[in-house]
Amino acid sequence: MTEAVASSVPRGVWITLEGGDGSGKTTQAALLEQWLHAQGRTVVRTREPGGTEVGVLVRDIVLHHRGDVAPRAEALLYAADRAHHVATLVRPALERGDIVLQDRYLDSSVAYQGAGRVLDAGEVRELSLWATEGALPDLTVLLDLDPATARTRLDAADKPFDRLEAEAAEFHARVRAAFLELAAAEPDRFVVLDASLPVDDLAAAIRARVAALL
Ligand code: TYD
Repeated sequence: MTEAVASSVPRGVWITLEGGDGSGKTTQAALLEQWLHAQGRTVVRTREPGGTEVGVLVRDIVLHHRGDVAPRAEALLYAADRAHHVATLVRPALERGDIVLQDRYLDSSVAYQGAGRVLDAGEVRELSLWATEGALPDLTVLLDLDPATARTRLDAADKPFDRLEAEAAEFHARVRAAFLELAAAEPDRFVVLDASLPVDDLAAAIRARVAALL
């Protein structure tokens, strides 16, 4: 299923950024977007959850609901956000030939809802592939960071933690390990970079990988 649909995914370039909370995805996405603009490319910068109006509503539930959300319900909410996002924003942008630069995608569900919430990783992945008719990015940049360092960064940012950020250290350790496993299983799609590098060095490493795709 994945292959057939992926081959119908059109001319643009789809890049996703993945990593734990505090790994610096937002900073790096902004720098990469600036560089792509400087290359004369049209960039659609987006994120999950929350890349569409429907997604903003879903984001509010998954990140800010004050009580428990059952793990399967959480997985379905992220998948619902993803289905709508890919159908209404990502695919149309790729069909126009744009570059889609996206903060988080299905690998986050496999890592957070699979390894983090201890659902079956394969089932979580299949759910997202069903939701998106098998759409997979051209490149996934994994910003890998030790969760203790990430925690220090988040503390320094002095923002209230959302539901996932507030999880225990073991949860974040499982998430990190899961991301690394995903990257090892799909070496052609993923590049793994050390997110403890200075911001500019990391940005240069990302640009080098992206330049090879353009
Ligand atoms: P993010 O937007 O990176 O947070 P911030 O706005 O603080 O930078 O991600 C929001 C949270 O959602 C993050 O803790 C990871 C979680 N998440 C999942 O658990 N599953 C998913 O499928 C996605 C896309 C995100």
